[in-house]
Amino acid sequence: MLPTLEWTEEGVRLLDQRLLPGQIAYRLCRNYEEVAEAIRTMVVRGAPAIGVAAAMGAALGGRAALRRGETGARLQAEFERICDRLFRTRPTAVNLVWGLARMRQVFAAGQAAQDSPARLEERLVTEARAIYEEDIAINRRLGANGAGLMPDAGRVLTHCNAGALATAGFGTALGVIRAAIAAGKRLEVYADETRPFLQGARLTAWELQQDGIPVRLITDNMAGHFLHQGAIQAIIVGADRIAANGDTANKIGTYSLAVLAQENGVPFYVAAPLSTLDLSLASGAAIPIEERAAEEVTHLQGVRIAPEGLAVCNPAFDVTPHRYISAIVTEAGVARPPLAESLRALAGAATGAEAG
Ligand code: MRU
Repeated sequence: MLPTLEWTEEGVRLLDQRLLPGQIAYRLCRNYEEVAEAIRTMVVRGAPAIGVAAAMGAALGGRAALRRGETGARLQAEFERICDRLFRTRPTAVNLVWGLARMRQVFAAGQAAQDSPARLEERLVTEARAIYEEDIAINRRLGANGAGLMPDAGRVLTHCNAGALATAGFGTALGVIRAAIAAGKRLEVYADETRPFLQGARLTAWELQQDGIPVRLITDNMAGHFLHQGAIQAIIVGADRIAANGDTANKIGTYSLAVLAQENGVPFYVAAPLSTLDLSLASGAAIPIEERAAEEVTHLQGVRIAPEGLAVCNPAFDVTPHRYISAIVTEAGVARPPLAESLRALAGAATGAEAG
């Protein structure tokens, strides 16, 4: 797979996902504003990938401020402004908040230790690169943990793109599928096209095709038909934010799939790193849902498909209540219902392991 994003000395290099699959082009963001704009406009997208991109953006911004000679309170205020700008790009994926929190922590530690400008710069860049590397390792562990949930042979449906393109590499939901296939399972993926941004048709289908994984594209409104026919053995999706009780925000359309899965007796799995868990929210009701531009709905690849002057709704995510979720796969293990308890235990064990 091509790298989704990477840190270079010149800036953050992002595969422009808006152009896929027709064009493979990288965009070099030389400053944090360009990274923020790339996140907002979905050059880079997917919860873990935007967490990594935001961390790299903060490193880029911090480095520039240090190289301009800023110090003390001025430097601190500037770093806060940088993090805040990156934070205000997309509201739903909590990985963005998490990535920035890690960068803030490292910055504060550097200031407390009275680091030289060169040392503080090194700390910031090292942390951003570590977040990137860790994400790939986490996805590999997560994939291994979830592979056993997949059928030995059959069809697995996924929605949106929770693959290598949505992460630093390997993917979450697609990582589980990759790991299952590597373990000898014979799977075919049914990819929902995922209106309106078409992450399924443009990204998941392309990514799996590149890897030689059998994939079949369906439109979103076909899922119920295939589930009812018994053609799908499992559903697995990613997540943008998981509340303490297991309620899960993911790409718009996920909720309908989960209800359809339960109605048809098909297991519905979520795959996400622990950085997607937001234990500060008791339930999904408090998860902020991003509303995106009307043009994403009224236009297809720049061509208008609806009358002018039309009122439009375009929520980018929905929340699936925890009762529809069969299991949540993380790098620390598989959480099963009751999800509130099992998620808390996995998060606690992971924090304990880090501290120990
Ligand atoms: O709007 P997007 O493309 O950023 O939405 C992406 C999703 O909803 C993914 O399923 C989620 O971020 C998990 S990615 C591993």
